Amino acid sequence: MSEVVDVRAEAARRRTIAIISHPDAGKTTLTEKFLLYAGAIQEAGAVHARGDRRGATSDWMELERQRGISISSAVLQFPYRDHVFNLLDTPGHRDFSEDTYRVLAAVDAVIMVLDTAKGIESQTLKLFQVCRTRRLPVVTFFNKYDRAGRDPLELLDEVEEQIGLRPTPVTWPVGIPGDFRGVIDRRNGDYIRFTRTARGASLAPEEFVSREQAAAEEGDAWKVALDGCGLLDAIGADVDEPSFLAGESTPVYVGSALTNFGVRMLLDAVVDYAPPPSPRLDVDGEGRPIDSPFAAFVFKVQANMDPNHRDRLAFARVCSGEFERSMDVTNTRTGKPVGTKYATTAFGAERETIERAYPGDIIGLVNAAGLQIGDTLYAGPRVEFPGVPRFEPEVFATARPVDTGKYKQFRKGLSQLDEEGVVQVLRDPDMGDADPILAAVGQLQFEVFAHRLEHEFNAPSRIEPAGYQAIRLTDEESVERLRRIGGIRILKRGDGELVALFENRYRLQRLMSDEPELTLRPILAGVEN
Ligand code: G4P
Repeated sequence: MSEVVDVRAEAARRRTIAIISHPDAGKTTLTEKFLLYAGAIQEAGAVHARGDRRGATSDWMELERQRGISISSAVLQFPYRDHVFNLLDTPGHRDFSEDTYRVLAAVDAVIMVLDTAKGIESQTLKLFQVCRTRRLPVVTFFNKYDRAGRDPLELLDEVEEQIGLRPTPVTWPVGIPGDFRGVIDRRNGDYIRFTRTARGASLAPEEFVSREQAAAEEGDAWKVALDGCGLLDAIGADVDEPSFLAGESTPVYVGSALTNFGVRMLLDAVVDYAPPPSPRLDVDGEGRPIDSPFAAFVFKVQANMDPNHRDRLAFARVCSGEFERSMDVTNTRTGKPVGTKYATTAFGAERETIERAYPGDIIGLVNAAGLQIGDTLYAGPRVEFPGVPRFEPEVFATARPVDTGKYKQFRKGLSQLDEEGVVQVLRDPDMGDADPILAAVGQLQFEVFAHRLEHEFNAPSRIEPAGYQAIRLTDEESVERLRRIGGIRILKRGDGELVALFENRYRLQRLMSDEPELTLRPILAGVEN
């Protein structure tokens, strides 16, 4: 007999978040330190070890290792302060921004990690801006303060100007980058002094130091820190929960993932400020109450990393109700039942059967053939959530099988990799799979596509650049007119949306001003490109 569980109480304990950063800003290190501070690992070093093991059991990850980049996303679940964290990993490389974007659809808040020495880097700016336009609550972490870097006041300006988020520092550093001693908690004026541990392998001791003692012991560093705080007080840069939840302001923490300075405070910020799961809006704009029967949506589909088991894993975020393994659920798009007997947690390649899950949790469905990104799964009354939004492609290519005898394999790979979102496959409505156009955020996506077509589907392909500069969403009414203009191609996306590709960006701009009645919507509304 299953015990009665209060779904609302379980949901209230969940914090489902992602860390986004530019590669090398410290996302992996911070993730590991979160596990250390949550007690999930005893000593730092495990995340890298896990990465190595994962590499050993996969072949297409080979590419990932050769290039020293992270392509696949995993989900970590760990308890902290009587809460349950679901930390969704995101690839840092800009070419995989679309993957990150899908993850953003499945989280309730984001931690934005900036390298103090570098500030906001142009390649990841768009992703940060997207958080802003989607009104996701963002907590900011200025990392690597243990070494030489920029003035934090300057970084605050950058966050405000480039992303449009009003920064509200919660902690303020004592000591300059490179000589980092501790932080002042601006909410109560406490000074927390940190001590380094060898290689940051264990928790950094924290000491609460009185103002008098700080003034005596920290000298000028203390004075400078107080001046900074005075300035922030004067402009009223204090944490403001409503505007944080509305994605307008961002609490800022200063620290160093490597030496563990400030890591605990950042975890506490997630518990104290980040929101628990809230009712998800369905396609009609109605919120599905958290304690309604089970519903979830698929935000990621991924081939198995293990070449001996070529199955597919669909990752779904639970939005309402209790999930129980083996329960009957329906896919809204197809109306068909979906098997949940082999539901797993999604800790990298190490699968563990999952028995129950609650709103905010991520479940992995093994061999979920027929599941696509954006699908809604439900039990009880039917529900349909809006699809997962697409990121704006910037590069385009043609794809053909090298060996025409492998056309069947090529087609199979094409549709499967499209469903996984490895690239966007755009097809001519009249020509089906012949001569598709691939659309991606960056070239690395094409490389992954070609590598997987060859190694998993046995269909080596020739990928060549296609001369398009811009893409817009359009509709049936506008298509007739667009077809009569040169330099434009009309294609269909896997989800059925019509898109127009333009050989010349300038002509697109002119067309939009000359014929404003045409439907030519940008794919990422509200973000400049
Ligand atoms: P990423 O996942 O965002 O790509 O970054 P990752 O954590 O892998 O960190 C990139 C590099 O930055 C690593 O150094 C890491 O040790 C270093 N790093 C992370 N946080 C801090 C910090 O707070 N302070 C300092 N000084 N360095 C930090 P690496 O030399 O590339 O790798 P490793 O040899 O240390 O493993």
